[in-house]
Amino acid sequence: MILMKNSLLLIAKNLVKKGDLFINKFGEKDFHKEAVQLLSSAKIYESFNYKELALNAFEKSFNHEQNFKHLEFSDLPLTIARGEKCFVDLYFWRRRPTVIHNHHFRGAFQCLEGLNIDSEFKFTKLKQFTRSHSLGKLEEKRVKTLKQGEIEGINFQDKFIHQNLHQSDLTVNLCFRTADVPKKNLSNFLYSGFKYEKEQSSLSRVERLLAFTRINDFDYKKLNLNLEDAINFELMTYGSESKNPFFLKLKKYLAQKVKDETGLNISSLINQHEKILDKIESEYE
Ligand SMILES: [Fe+2]
Repeated sequence: MILMKNSLLLIAKNLVKKGDLFINKFGEKDFHKEAVQLLSSAKIYESFNYKELALNAFEKSFNHEQNFKHLEFSDLPLTIARGEKCFVDLYFWRRRPTVIHNHHFRGAFQCLEGLNIDSEFKFTKLKQFTRSHSLGKLEEKRVKTLKQGEIEGINFQDKFIHQNLHQSDLTVNLCFRTADVPKKNLSNFLYSGFKYEKEQSSLSRVERLLAFTRINDFDYKKLNLNLEDAINFELMTYGSESKNPFFLKLKKYLAQKVKDETGLNISSLINQHEKILDKIESEYE
């Protein structure tokens, strides 16, 4: 079967061409502004048709390298166009909020269908614990509703911190963006102002530690686990229901290390955070 050429895909292809031209000329620094301009003149949301897209996503010509793995982000992440220095993703969300986060890329997102309640935050750092963990004041700057066709720029790292509530049964967002900036990471934030950067090598270290605990006992006190390991371990094992005594002993040891060195109780910070999230979700209309 030959399908009609999808105008959404053609517009997306055209957007990345224009994005590349801009980046090649001016660099990525102001791409979040340019992406807003290009998206608003492209009117790509008018061409969004779910049924058509589903068919097109299985065409031979649909061979774009995917940015996210299936279920890594949103209910369905889909890269629909790729340029040299920028690309266009679509994200499908069912009624749920994202975490509070910043980004290690620049771009803009546009609502294609459904509804976003987007809260933007300002973070003022008060205390740095490790290269990836700090505590600060997190203040809500504004809440904005993004309906079909509406666009919001995504500036780099702490210049744009947000949380997006997807209150519709289905919200589809398009994201026109640069690639992740090498050696930079995104961060998540708790409502208490605790900020944690997703530094991949240190997260991998804790994943490795967890994998070892599942196999057999070992002398973890000889590992020189540092504060960064301890905080990441707490963040990554929050809500774990494991009854493995060795794991529980290590978890208690690391939680105590975090408490001794920072005065923080990570589990109770996450508990507080989850309570606020539960409240937000229960208020969904
Ligand atoms: Fe975001």
